[in-house]
Amino acid sequence: MEIIIADDADQMSRTAARIVRRVLNAKPNAVLGLATGSTPLGLYRELVRMHREEGLDFSQVTTFNLDEYVGLPKNHPQSYHWFMHENLFRHVNIAPQNIYIPLGTTDNSAAFCAWYEERIRQCGGIDLQILGIGSDGHIAFNEPSSSLGSRTRIKTLAQQTIRDNARFFASIDQVPIYAITMGVGTILEAKKIVLLANGPHKADAVAAAIEGPVTSMITASALQLHRDVTAVIDRDSAAQLKMRDYYVWVQEKMVDAP
Ligand code: F6R
Repeated sequence: MEIIIADDADQMSRTAARIVRRVLNAKPNAVLGLATGSTPLGLYRELVRMHREEGLDFSQVTTFNLDEYVGLPKNHPQSYHWFMHENLFRHVNIAPQNIYIPLGTTDNSAAFCAWYEERIRQCGGIDLQILGIGSDGHIAFNEPSSSLGSRTRIKTLAQQTIRDNARFFASIDQVPIYAITMGVGTILEAKKIVLLANGPHKADAVAAAIEGPVTSMITASALQLHRDVTAVIDRDSAAQLKMRDYYVWVQEKMVDAP
């Protein structure tokens, strides 16, 4: 895994945006896997800036979001549909028909999840997957004990995740209990993955994901099995990494690497 330790969340976002730009420059019709939550907000702001100021083009891009709360309609302000439109899609030139987000209001979730997986395949697979990490080490909503081979399905959120996400809702009782989420197996099929984390509250999860054993108790640790993952993390979230000095050394030496 490549580990880039940024000075702060802004630098993390700019670094991640440069990776996205590189992928889009090489493949203008790339398929992007996208995350919601607080972590990628700065990345989306930077992509919007690149679109406006540098002409970063999304016209041929296809996106698949990781997850959506079950029961929230698309126009609910806390739905991930709403989040993505507010924070990215309505500010760039992406074609609406190229946007895929799990449908939290489907009345046949099994069929929907199978269709979602099939659409990813038909679009050629995900070229670049953006991930955040939960304080319990989850990626997407693959909570501890999720199968590392799991596919898109309904998951019951962990109480920790419900507590973490209560900050977005008027009260904790309003946080949905279920979500449709890509599986760990789905995520691991992306060609390239960027894991983002910032803040001291992510330090334990980041250390477990990067340096701990591969275990379904920290689903982000499955990323160790993928051959092209870049973790772009800020100093606070890197604080518990045992090999932090080595990662910084590698970053410095990369410039002159043969
Ligand atoms: C969101 C998602 C989640 C978040 C994670 C971190 O689509 O899949 O795994 O990335 O819960 O959330 P934040 O960034 O709000 O700390």
